[in-house]
Amino acid sequence: MPVITINGRQHDLEGADPAQSLAAYCRECAGDQSVRVACGSGACGACAVAAVPPGRTSVLTINACLAPVGSLAGYQVMTAAGVGNSKQGFHPVQERMGAFHASQCGYCTPGIVAALGGALTNAQLEDGAGAQPGPEELARCLDGNLCRCTGYRPIMDVCKSFASGVDIEDLGLHAPLADGAAAAAAGCPLLLQPGTPPAADGKTPLRIEAGGRTWLAPTSLEELIEACAAQRAAGNDAAAPPPRFLAGNTGSGLFHDLWPAEDRLVVGLGRVRELRAVTPTESHLVVGAAVTIAELVSALSSHAASAGKAPSAAGAATAGEPCSPFASLAAMLARIAGAHVRQAGTVGGNLVLAKRKGLESDLATALLGWGATALVLDVAAAAPSNGGNGSGGAGPHTEEVPLEAFLSAGHNMAPSQLLVALSLPLPAGGDYFLCTKVAPAHSSVHATMNAAVKLSGLSGDSSAPTSATIVLGYHGGAGWVAQRARAAEAALTGAKLGASSLASALRALCADVAPGQHPQEFAAMAQGLLLQAVGPVVRERCAAGGGCLPRLDRLLQVPPASVPPAVMGGRQEFDPAPSAQAPLGAPLEKDRVLLQTSGEAQYTADVPAPAGTLHAAWVTSSEACATIASIDASAALQLPRVVTFLSAEDLPGELNHVKCGLPMLPEELFARGQVVHHAQPLGLVVAETQVGMRILAARKRSGWCCKTLLRAEECRVLLWAAPHSVDRWRVLRRWGGQHPCWEGTRGDCRALQQAAAVDIRTAVRPAQLPTSRGHACHAAQPAMPRQNVPTTCWCLRALTCGSSPSGCNLAGFRLQDAAMRAARAVRVEYGPPEQPGVFSIEQARERSSFYNFPGPFGCIEKQEGDPAGAIAGAERRILGGTVRVPGNYHMYLEPQNALAIPDEGGCIKVHAAAQSIDAVQRAVAHALGVRQHSVEAVCRRVGGGFGGKATRNLPVAVAAAVAAVKTGRPVRLVQDRATDMRLNGGRCEVLAEYDAGFSSEGVIQGLSLRIFCLLGAFPDFPMDGFAMAGMITMAYNIPNVSLSIKQCKANLPTTTFMRAPGDAQAAFIIESIMERVALDCGLGAAAVRERNFVPAPPAGAETVRLSMGKEMPAVDYTLPRLWQHVKAASNYERRAAEVAAFNEGSPWLKRGLGLTHTRFDVIVQAKSAYVSIFADGSVAAFAGGAELGQGLTTKVKQTVLAELSQLLPEGSRPLPAELVRIVDQTTNVLPAASVTGGSTTSEAACHGIKAACQVLVKRLQPLAEKLGPEGTWADLMKAVAGANAMASCAVPLSAFGHTSELGSEGARFGYTIWGAACTEAEVNLLTGERQILRSDLVMDVGRSLNPAIDIGQVEGAFAQGLGMALSEARRVDPSTGRLLTDSLWDYHAPTASAMPRQLNVALLPGSRMERSTLGAKAVGEPPLMLATSALSALQAAVRAGHAELAALGTAGGHASGGEAGGADGEAALLRLPVSAENVVAAVAAGSGRDLAGLFGTWAGEA
Ligand SMILES: Cc1cc2nc3c(=O)[nH]c(=O)nc-3n(C[C@H](O)[C@H](O)[C@H](O)COP(=O)(O)OP(=O)(O)OC[C@H]3O[C@@H](n4cnc5c(N)ncnc54)[C@H](O)[C@@H]3O)c2cc1C
Ligand code: FES
Ligand code: FES
Repeated sequence: MPVITINGRQHDLEGADPAQSLAAYCRECAGDQSVRVACGSGACGACAVAAVPPGRTSVLTINACLAPVGSLAGYQVMTAAGVGNSKQGFHPVQERMGAFHASQCGYCTPGIVAALGGALTNAQLEDGAGAQPGPEELARCLDGNLCRCTGYRPIMDVCKSFASGVDIEDLGLHAPLADGAAAAAAGCPLLLQPGTPPAADGKTPLRIEAGGRTWLAPTSLEELIEACAAQRAAGNDAAAPPPRFLAGNTGSGLFHDLWPAEDRLVVGLGRVRELRAVTPTESHLVVGAAVTIAELVSALSSHAASAGKAPSAAGAATAGEPCSPFASLAAMLARIAGAHVRQAGTVGGNLVLAKRKGLESDLATALLGWGATALVLDVAAAAPSNGGNGSGGAGPHTEEVPLEAFLSAGHNMAPSQLLVALSLPLPAGGDYFLCTKVAPAHSSVHATMNAAVKLSGLSGDSSAPTSATIVLGYHGGAGWVAQRARAAEAALTGAKLGASSLASALRALCADVAPGQHPQEFAAMAQGLLLQAVGPVVRERCAAGGGCLPRLDRLLQVPPASVPPAVMGGRQEFDPAPSAQAPLGAPLEKDRVLLQTSGEAQYTADVPAPAGTLHAAWVTSSEACATIASIDASAALQLPRVVTFLSAEDLPGELNHVKCGLPMLPEELFARGQVVHHAQPLGLVVAETQVGMRILAARKRSGWCCKTLLRAEECRVLLWAAPHSVDRWRVLRRWGGQHPCWEGTRGDCRALQQAAAVDIRTAVRPAQLPTSRGHACHAAQPAMPRQNVPTTCWCLRALTCGSSPSGCNLAGFRLQDAAMRAARAVRVEYGPPEQPGVFSIEQARERSSFYNFPGPFGCIEKQEGDPAGAIAGAERRILGGTVRVPGNYHMYLEPQNALAIPDEGGCIKVHAAAQSIDAVQRAVAHALGVRQHSVEAVCRRVGGGFGGKATRNLPVAVAAAVAAVKTGRPVRLVQDRATDMRLNGGRCEVLAEYDAGFSSEGVIQGLSLRIFCLLGAFPDFPMDGFAMAGMITMAYNIPNVSLSIKQCKANLPTTTFMRAPGDAQAAFIIESIMERVALDCGLGAAAVRERNFVPAPPAGAETVRLSMGKEMPAVDYTLPRLWQHVKAASNYERRAAEVAAFNEGSPWLKRGLGLTHTRFDVIVQAKSAYVSIFADGSVAAFAGGAELGQGLTTKVKQTVLAELSQLLPEGSRPLPAELVRIVDQTTNVLPAASVTGGSTTSEAACHGIKAACQVLVKRLQPLAEKLGPEGTWADLMKAVAGANAMASCAVPLSAFGHTSELGSEGARFGYTIWGAACTEAEVNLLTGERQILRSDLVMDVGRSLNPAIDIGQVEGAFAQGLGMALSEARRVDPSTGRLLTDSLWDYHAPTASAMPRQLNVALLPGSRMERSTLGAKAVGEPPLMLATSALSALQAAVRAGHAELAALGTAGGHASGGEAGGADGEAALLRLPVSAENVVAAVAAGSGRDLAGLFGTWAGEA
């Protein structure tokens, strides 16, 4: 019997859908909500679990969202809930995640816990109980885990706290560890004890029949062939679809069509021993196709080590040295995907995807370059007796195909063909090989370009390769291409290696990369990669021949490829809290953080679904701009389990508008008449749930038997969940809600079964009906023995599962799968659009497609002074400069979701993952046409919002509510990641055009800016333009400025708030202008900035005036102090000299320092709060704001403790933290909490709480005073009880508070927040790769309420800013408006490797917000703009590159005349995001870089 063991408990897989993902199985069948699904594609690691396959002695970590549960038969699995929990105790990894403040919203945390716990377990299994893995090893185990909140530094500190060679004192801010030292892995309980569970030993074949499929897991090639042949024979169907080979199933994370509906036989390859072997022969290494990428990395590394060429940490050579071939291969493969995908994804799967799906494969490029051969077997043609000989994987029918031919379009790989193995020639003397990739991050992302270069025949003193293979992979016009660069190969083959042959090869390479078809920078990047590969060999040959001339030698000093960045670290500095305020100001651990680490913390999607809950899925538009001719949902409604379809027809008139009181124009919930953007919701399909399965599974876990299996109520649920049929009602009526088996008659059971059969007759073929599975009752057994219960209930399971001939393979992959399948079956006919679509700023301008809102959110025209005159009269000018800031996506890990539950009397309760529950309440009430009191909106915590859940959750909540009312049943709507990305327009793209006039010293005298914001088809709350108008000059004192802002109306999804909306774009625009001015003047950018700052106010000044008319209290202008602080903290002057020295010595790697500031204006919101003290002294508080991970509840709790502690004598303060609980937000208690956003909500919520606590303190103070200095909290509660016994002096123990009651400090007030940063970055001029080395950030957060939380906010916001600067950009198809970046494969949020290696944060000492008694300033958004320091640092590095290349003799540096209106100055400036292509382009534009010309110049000298 196939079983899987999850957290120590065995689960029988018999009857379960084996294609269901492990995540779905854990959540739905095993009742384990700790496995979170954030992307569903293997890219974020939120779902990571530890697992041990049968017979294996180490732990894997795998993505539960991709692993089909059927392929895990025999596995032991440990999820975060099993690692540790509140009942059995927490694991040290979990404790440290809490203590190091490494969990903010907590959505990523269970995956991190499982991955790190797995790595620590492995370390102990491999090296014994005292194991101390290195920090790099532990950090590497998390390279498949994304965190959008923390900026990774604290997570890396947790890793390091377990590692060897790390001083605990060097670790970041943490609560003291109990043992005072890095406990290393030794202190950690093992997650799993590898061993073989009795049910599956890995040596016996497995067979599962379910969902209309046969699921086989043979253990040898012969078994595999036999099974396929038997299936063909049994099916007696020549046209039967071929078997579907399944390896790690990670491919389905990238390609959603890998599970064709007609699959009947799924053959798992993971146990086939021939496919799992790595077999060295005399001349080759034969690698079975089912060997995982991680296993191949380790095999190649061991081989390289045994050949005496041990890979370095990087697996690569140091600068200027050639690399060992297998070490280079291993280093390249170690960069494929993230750690969890590498442990499940196989070599064969990767190459088949490269062949059939055009995967951007690093493996294919690498192996093609190395000259591998594929061994292929056609299982349809193979006779069983011939199948496989068990030696080396090649059976008699195995065909050997050179990989180049295998991958070529000319080679047809039939579906029945099995890739058996790859044969890699062993390195020979004289072989040189390098493969590498250029990518947005070190790992976890696909390559921008990858390359493999092999030179052979260079043994002895031969300098002419006998053969050269050069393979390049990149996105060509028609998708990804990985092909030989024949012209360059020819130039190198047989030619003596030197400047001349290199020049020829580099020139030829440009022809290979087909100029004209690809961006110019691709050819330049390809040249850089070739030089990176060949340079060390040429240099080595030169050295052997007496050395080459210095300048050529410098050119050949290329940096090594594939160096993994060091593990990040950092320092944190803050003022200790004044004890009088305790515990305010203390770096307390986040409230309920341990529950986040174990996955017990409940998010909206975890709220248990009430009986009968339905699931919904959007039907979205495939057109961006069209009239809707018709919507036909009839086919969808015919599908099993589909209950209803909703569209605009269900919401007449204005009810179809999402309205929440914010000044947003009517946004349609469902398109009516015409569609205005791609993926616009047209309707909603609502389908049955899997609750039945969950109940069954839950009962089963608790030792079920027939009598306890189902309660009558649950039985009703099961029946209720059956597809539409009168039979359902007949069954219900017949038993009146009694479970048939309960009463024990097999007749009853058979009747139920018949009812089920009728219901599912459209869904399954007769052969698959429960009867054919030997139903217990059908077998006419006299009684129903216990062991027959599972089969008895198969009929129920069939009822609720809704097996279907098409696509049941996916059943359970997603909760709302039936709804999603049905959504795809809705037919929509489109008519021609009324006018052509607008998808870009340029198109909007061409067609004058602008919004014209009234008031400050409309088109903005502002002017101060005489900019035109100032520019005309300036010494230097830039005319027609441009800066484009791309749009971004929030990438909150918890996708948008809501659960709506109808209640009596027409009321409804809506659980929503929302930043504003009162907006949810208003929007739902509007759509339902009911009063607000009939709608309760609730939210406990949100798994990251960043502005994306301020309004973008409203359509989700409203749709769920409308569907719930229509069906009369609870409805849950969870958006999958692709839908989430398509529906959410994110941060708007902005284009700024400018003219600037300035002096030769870089002082700007006049600036004229024309800004265009690209908004969507509905404007939401158009905050960006408004904020930009106030912020555009930041702290710069520009006397003459004009600004116009236009809001483009495009056929794109609604854009919305995103962390620092408008402020972020403003900062990148003005700082880019500063860079351009500095470039033009030939000055350092930091100096130019300093010269333009608003000066520090003179002593005694009351106010400071910023550009564009803003005045602020002089005391608030802390930038001059911050600037000095950051310069000192970063050792700016010394490091500038070090950077210059580095650049002097390094021809191709260049470094730069960037020094920038941030400014952020806020208005503190008014908030109310409610606090109750209970008789036992415990306290419950409702605060006006959502916990998004930003630590709101923690700060609120600290405020409650600080305020109520005033009732205690000083010596007994503060109250114990466990006495206070911050309760879920609900509109029933605090009806007008307003949006959580704008950075001030935590502060304002604390003000509200303070007001409420003050009411209570006032009431209780007399009793407390009576108790005197010895009085305790318990005494006070007794006194209250005594008083309450007498009605005359009863003390009410609940109180509302509102900030307005705090007097002037509670009034709405605004202030400006400042910060400064210094960043050091490095670029590789050859490939454009960039690395942020160090950032020092100093923020003025006033008197911090919780420094640990505030530092976390600084780091997290900075990380998001870095994403904006380096890698994140929403891209749409310019002709269709379709989003091209609708997965994490294409949209690159920063991984840990993209962060600075050293991230130091200081909170400005001695600061305090004078106008608030709490003294704190906002922190959530302002630090984001500090990421402009990275842009500045990279620009400085690129400028150093310009200088180097100019000196090396290419067409000299950038133009720096009096008028810099030409393209050169503009093109030499880095574009956002600073991708490798953009670096290469800016280097080339500023220097005229042409490597071929450069080597040609020195060919004579050499
Ligand atoms: C998030 C993510 C990031 C990634 N990043 C990278 C990257 O940076 N670079 C890179 O190169 N790749 C990357 N990949 C691709 C990854 O390497 C592949 O998904 C993986 O190797 C596929 O192996 P699998 O065992 O999971 O194949 P499966 O998903 O099981 O199979 C894929 C396809 O191949 C077929 N198949 C599998 N094995 C065989 C066989 N032996 N014979 C015939 N058919 C077979 C299957 O039927 C299926 O159609 C990434 C994948 C993910 C999910
Ligand atoms: S990797 Fe599984 S949910 Fe993202
Ligand atoms: S804490 Fe990592 S994603 Fe929120």
